[in-house]
Amino acid sequence: MSNQKAPQDTCVLVTGGAGFIGSHTVVKLLEGGYQVVIVDDLSNASERVLDRIDRIVGEDASSRLSFYRADVNDREALDVIFDENPIDRVIHFAGFKAVGESVSKPIEYYSNNIGSTLTLVDVMRDHGCKSIVFSSSATVYGDPDALPLTEQSPKKPATNPYGWTKWMIEEILGSLHTADPAWNVVLLRYFNPIGAHPSGLMGEDPKGIPNNLLPYVAQVAVGRRDRVHVFGDDYDTPDGTGVRDYIHVMDLAAGHVAALAWMDGRTGVEVFNLGTGNGTSVLEIIEAFSAACGRELPYVIEPRRPGDVTANYADCAKARREMGWEAQFGIADMCRDSWTWQSHNPNGYEG
Ligand code: WQD
Repeated sequence: MSNQKAPQDTCVLVTGGAGFIGSHTVVKLLEGGYQVVIVDDLSNASERVLDRIDRIVGEDASSRLSFYRADVNDREALDVIFDENPIDRVIHFAGFKAVGESVSKPIEYYSNNIGSTLTLVDVMRDHGCKSIVFSSSATVYGDPDALPLTEQSPKKPATNPYGWTKWMIEEILGSLHTADPAWNVVLLRYFNPIGAHPSGLMGEDPKGIPNNLLPYVAQVAVGRRDRVHVFGDDYDTPDGTGVRDYIHVMDLAAGHVAALAWMDGRTGVEVFNLGTGNGTSVLEIIEAFSAACGRELPYVIEPRRPGDVTANYADCAKARREMGWEAQFGIADMCRDSWTWQSHNPNGYEG
């Protein structure tokens, strides 16, 4: 059994903690009383997010936050972090995450995402830390045979190297527990994280042309892009466009805090779906964001994007039953908060 500790006595290392989901989770951890250490190489994040975190949580809570600019692949840097901080838990977000890019850069994706995880858990073991929450993804379910997706739904072959890294890292972490039952592993399978902190101080800030729908729609709304490109309207869905389970990033962040509390004192490997249980189409997202920003957003129908599934959405009964967690926010909240962020930060953190 891993040791039980109150949040105030628990130090959490958050890899990729300056990123979109990581930074919002750090806010929730600090508000929950945890000591937090971020390690992030800032390859896909801005250091300015640290100031935004401080402004949101206030001076007292931000005094419990440390930041190390480093690559999780850098074993020496990780050793220093573990030597300088009494790390009890790790939440592992760090990794490349662009589906399309992963197809053209498989070596970079496999070596970075899987290699950094192997280095991380090896250093954790050296320092006697065997509790990890992994940022996994509904992408491991592939093209679903049946909906909604439960944690018992079969893992299916991924359709891109990004998906394979999530798939394989889940297997790696499971193998750690098989070899050493002292490991305490939670795999959180996210559906589609969107939205932003309601203050408008933090949000999603992808570099270059956004791969994902919401940041692209937000950039159309703020005038950085001319129209939304809808990838296919001939799917077997009510309006013909792709359906996904969009979840507010603040709900997702709260799910990580709930997972830390749930895993306290346990060992083993546990999977939880983090979604809302509701499916929303591309056109419904465009309509909701138009309402949030106060103008009809232009769009054009284009051919399907290779690798896209028709629909996926979650059954989250297990997270509700086991962790007492369930999503609180709906699509209108997600679009409202995303628009608050984007309209106040038209060019993201570097604006
Ligand atoms: C959503 C819907 C598209 C862009 C991926 C990963 C997942 C997670 C989230 C990283 C689909 C349509 C999109 C656009 C569009 N990964 N779309 N025009 O592909 O469901 O999930 O991102 O955090 O693991 O698999 O998300 O936002 O790319 O697409 O019409 O410009 O929007 O076809 O139906 P996806 P997405």
